[in-house]
Amino acid sequence: MAPPRQVTVRVDGVALRVPEGASVAAAIECAAGGVPAIYRRSLRGMPRGACCGMGVCKECRVTIDGVPNRLACEVRCSEGMEIGGAGTGDGTL
Ligand code: FES
Repeated sequence: MAPPRQVTVRVDGVALRVPEGASVAAAIECAAGGVPAIYRRSLRGMPRGACCGMGVCKECRVTIDGVPNRLACEVRCSEGMEIGGAGTGDGTL
């Protein structure tokens, strides 16, 4: 079985190679480098991140290719995808 094709995505401007079809949430976690990733901040400034991994909690909302409030756990990575809003919630990791 051939290994999956790799694609390049950008997470808050940082280029990252991931297997094609990996979830955006997985890409964000990889970009975080082993520490729990912060996807956005609540209205009170509390860090939010992927919780359920299956489209229920809605805590993994990010901007993908300019479209806000996409669920990172439900969208698959594709070549050239721009993922924003992860990290501190102000567009930086
Ligand atoms: S992690 Fe819960 S909806 Fe995405």
